[in-house]
Amino acid sequence: MLIVSDMTEQKQQKQESRNKLTTELTDEIKTILKDQDIEMLEPIDNGSTSIVFKGLLTIDGGQVVDVAIKFVNLDKQSDKVRNKYIPQEISLVERLKHKHIIRTYKVVKHKNKYVFIVSELADGDLIKVLEKGELLDEKLVREWFRQIVKAVEYIHRKGVAHRDLKADNILIVKNTMKLCDFGYARQSRNDDGSVKMVRTLCGTIEYASPESLSRLQPFDPMVSDCFSLGVVLYTMLTLNFPFGSGDCVRSKEGRSELLANIKAQQWSLPDNYKDNNNICSLLKQLLNPDPSGRIRSCQILSHPWFSTIPSTNHLQQTNGSQ
Ligand SMILES: Nc1ncnc2c1ncn2[C@@H]1O[C@H](COP(=O)(O)OP(=O)(O)O)[C@@H](O)[C@H]1O
Ligand SMILES: [Mg+2]
Repeated sequence: MLIVSDMTEQKQQKQESRNKLTTELTDEIKTILKDQDIEMLEPIDNGSTSIVFKGLLTIDGGQVVDVAIKFVNLDKQSDKVRNKYIPQEISLVERLKHKHIIRTYKVVKHKNKYVFIVSELADGDLIKVLEKGELLDEKLVREWFRQIVKAVEYIHRKGVAHRDLKADNILIVKNTMKLCDFGYARQSRNDDGSVKMVRTLCGTIEYASPESLSRLQPFDPMVSDCFSLGVVLYTMLTLNFPFGSGDCVRSKEGRSELLANIKAQQWSLPDNYKDNNNICSLLKQLLNPDPSGRIRSCQILSHPWFSTIPSTNHLQQTNGSQ
């Protein structure tokens, strides 16, 4: 099902909850921010736990920069989100620094009631680009996907699994991809380097790995991230989800069907990519239903797809990343 038509209902729900949250912005909140040299402007978007506003931050020396302010009202969150996920997110955004991860300027906490994560302002997110319904050029997909993989490779090297990789959580700043939303991310390596296996299904069902959907046994969340990367790549190439999407995958039966499709490797590419062996082979390795055989983030950029298509001059310029 097409991403464009598919998301209309979800968008309406988001808009409704954004309207509700916006009306809750009190003078108390405005004063807290003013004391931190932050001015809150209009809302941009919202996710499951937060609402994101445009804003202005006055930094040292009086320079004013455009920022995004992710606002979380802790009173409105479940115990798990308040006591586990939000503290994890704060500690990670303060620690993770990479060219392809959205930069956090500061985090403001107020009386265990509100959290504001102030970061660089992006021009938009990848889902909005895909929702326009215009197919992207393969070279552009390759370059953007390369940047996304670099961010994921970096966090995995630090032992952090993102657990909610999807087009909504990939931002665009001056034509560069930047990963955001560490709301479900977690430190997934023990001090001795072994992986902390998990059982929890997080994030959005369309991007979920088969091991997280079936929850039969504990799994490595970083390997699960690589499956989600496969879904991201597929959506960038085709503007579709590979295995199913929308309301029909949200029922119990729909979820079983989705899992069966993944296990049967039931995805196919449209005519323009059908004979592209490199893309088929990379997608096959990312969407491998067997986590033990799935490609790891540190191996993805060595795949021949990244060296077969000549870059345009413009893309070469944006290539000088880490
Ligand atoms: N720095 C930013 N600049 C511009 N838009 C942003 C920024 N951060 C988040 N957004 C927008 O807000 C949405 C929700 O933010 P996100 O961090 O994903 O919150 P949630 O955890 O609630 O999903 C994103 O999908 C994106 O569209
Ligand atoms: Mg999000």
